[in-house]
Amino acid sequence: MVILDKYSSIFIANWKLNGNSSFLKDYYEKLKLNSNNCTIICSPSIYLKSLKGNNEYLFCGAQDVSSYKEGAYTGELSASMLKDNNIDFCLVGHSERRQYFAETNDNVNLKSSNLIEENIIPVICIGETLEQKENNLTEEILSTQIKNSIPNEATYQNTLIAYEPVWAIGTGLTPTLDEISQVHELIKNFDTKFKSFKVLYGGSVKSSNSKEINELSHVDGCLIGGASLKVDEFNTIIS
Ligand code: PGA
Repeated sequence: MVILDKYSSIFIANWKLNGNSSFLKDYYEKLKLNSNNCTIICSPSIYLKSLKGNNEYLFCGAQDVSSYKEGAYTGELSASMLKDNNIDFCLVGHSERRQYFAETNDNVNLKSSNLIEENIIPVICIGETLEQKENNLTEEILSTQIKNSIPNEATYQNTLIAYEPVWAIGTGLTPTLDEISQVHELIKNFDTKFKSFKVLYGGSVKSSNSKEINELSHVDGCLIGGASLKVDEFNTIIS
């Protein structure tokens, strides 16, 4: 399992359903890693094998995993198959999976548990919608997501949490720095066990705001979607 404490910050590129072989080749030629940080590229699964991951600073992450371990489940990839292919991280419960693929907190919990069993670090995504934020439900929603989607065996060494307000994903909108700080503090204070967890922020992170977000005291890195597809932009973010 990757030793998270070795790194001052963690940056995850979530390519979503984007990229192809020539994009990948060009990206890796231009990618400039920063040896203080852990950089994780979550490409579509079919390209994970061709990523130059798993050196000391660069790792591969899947964007999802099956909740089943094996059997007649056409189209699925299990946690052990990811491990077999040297994948060290996996996003779980991203809001797009929750929204478009009906992923529930229970699914997220089971998937995370299977990943931990295989020594893969789940990146468990939580966050409120705009409507929930406007109704002052952020704390309640996050509490429920934390309680139900983070398995008991999760520790600060084998699990990452990503706070991604749904309304900030792909919209160019972000919470204020104070709001990000407050929510990260809330997550870390939810239970004594979460105090040492690394909590990443995601949602419209780009080169112009990544530094100030990442410098916040309770922020341990960023999860980047759209801006991670432009390698120069991503290089600036991780620099
Ligand atoms: P965004 O996406 O950076 O494009 O807002 C973040 C994510 O979906 O993880």
